Amino acid sequence: AAATRGEKQDGRPFRQRLLVVANRLPVSAIRKGEDLWSLEISAGGLVSALLGVNEFEARWIGWAGVNVPDEIGQKALTKALAEKRCIPVFLDEEIVHQYYNGYCNNILWPLFHYLGLPQEDRLATTRSFQSQFEAYQKANQMFADVVNKHYEEGDVVWCHDYHLMFLPQCLKKCNSKMKVGWFLHTPFPSSEIHRTLPSRSELLHAVLAADLVGFHTYDYARHFVSACTRILGLEGTPEGVGNQGKLTRVAAFPIGIDSERFIRALDLPQVKDHIKELQERFKGRKVMLGVDRLDMIKGIPQKILAFEKFLEENRDWRDKVVLLQIAVPTRTDVPEYQKLTSQVHEIVGRINGRFGTLTTVPIHHLDRSLDFHALCALYAVTDVALVTSLRDGMNLVSYEFVACQDKKKGVLILSEFAGAAQSLGAGAILVNPWNITEVAAAIAKALNMSPAEREKRHKHNFEHVKTHTAQEWAETFVSELNDTVVEAQIRTKQ
Ligand code: G6P
Repeated sequence: AAATRGEKQDGRPFRQRLLVVANRLPVSAIRKGEDLWSLEISAGGLVSALLGVNEFEARWIGWAGVNVPDEIGQKALTKALAEKRCIPVFLDEEIVHQYYNGYCNNILWPLFHYLGLPQEDRLATTRSFQSQFEAYQKANQMFADVVNKHYEEGDVVWCHDYHLMFLPQCLKKCNSKMKVGWFLHTPFPSSEIHRTLPSRSELLHAVLAADLVGFHTYDYARHFVSACTRILGLEGTPEGVGNQGKLTRVAAFPIGIDSERFIRALDLPQVKDHIKELQERFKGRKVMLGVDRLDMIKGIPQKILAFEKFLEENRDWRDKVVLLQIAVPTRTDVPEYQKLTSQVHEIVGRINGRFGTLTTVPIHHLDRSLDFHALCALYAVTDVALVTSLRDGMNLVSYEFVACQDKKKGVLILSEFAGAAQSLGAGAILVNPWNITEVAAAIAKALNMSPAEREKRHKHNFEHVKTHTAQEWAETFVSELNDTVVEAQIRTKQ
């Protein structure tokens, strides 16, 4: 059957349906009664990317982040989600424990970010590896079953991230004609790191079943291709990876943000009021800002230690600068994340005890998220933003900061290990976050930078953030996926 297409706001039909499959749906669901759910849309990068793509009618398939064991609850949630064009995959607690907390976030996530397996429970992880891997495959098949149920001929299926590396293979096994793309939002590590994974080959083969495989940077794409050549012995070409006559196209598609949404927000009366309040609150002090998920990869302890070093070495700045660190709790069931939270609290407490006075503290640390408008106001009043990721697929906080700085022209200190260093490197001060002496010096440089230099650096980055948007990213990936499939069909006919 041909796909039943909806209509765009201008009444014209959409060109194509796009099934976006990601571990997490872009909504949070809260149960209010046996058959009653309240839904809140979380406007992350992917959501705004796809909202801006007019040619495609996007449907989301993913986990709603809650355990719903009963049929009444599942039916009611499915119905509520349908209004938001979302389709749920129901995962029970055991699968979530083994697949999401276990294989995804305790094994793949740290490994892909070069952090190795969790130190203390390395042996325990090694022992439970096989069962977690099986749960991962099982979960991926559950996503595939939902995709297959909703797929209509002509649809494009776009699979996202390290949670769903098996999905392309599951889908193609069932329907080899399906157009399947896979995009990784994290780094893909050097093949030497990937080699250490017991399931290294299965994962690579599963991803290679896709028609198009995308990464944020050229380096990640290159690492993936060399993993395929070295571990699987396949042929790597500039276009991708060849396997038994089939070419899987591999390329870099750097993501961006919906910059206009941030720029527009700064003109809203409530954001302007908030900006004034913050300016009043921090009058006479320079504002430094960190906004991160409370994750090991973000280098939050390293950032705070570098700030301490800066205060140690720059006595004159002690009561003239404040660091606001927003740390959004994440994956709180995973022990490594629990340890990190206490570690960060301990360091912040120590430094505030050391440099605070009766009326002020040098670090304001919040363990929570801020709403969009409060975040825009905070970005706008910031003098120096600090992004110290130990590794990061892209890091869109750096983009959001730049988008909100066209008035102030503040300075971005950016880790060279974030994908964003490749696009914003010319405007930012690049640092190695492991070297706290270097980061402390970068803080001093940023705070003392001349207005002319700040303007020049900001201009470079602002241009980039304005032109390389999330919408452009999504459009490029999907149109390349369409072209890749057509080219492959032509090749097969010849
Ligand atoms: C990263 C991943 C995303 C993930 C997000 C939040 O950005 O690449 O796939 O959704 O972190 O993590 P969570 O585990 O809460 O979904």
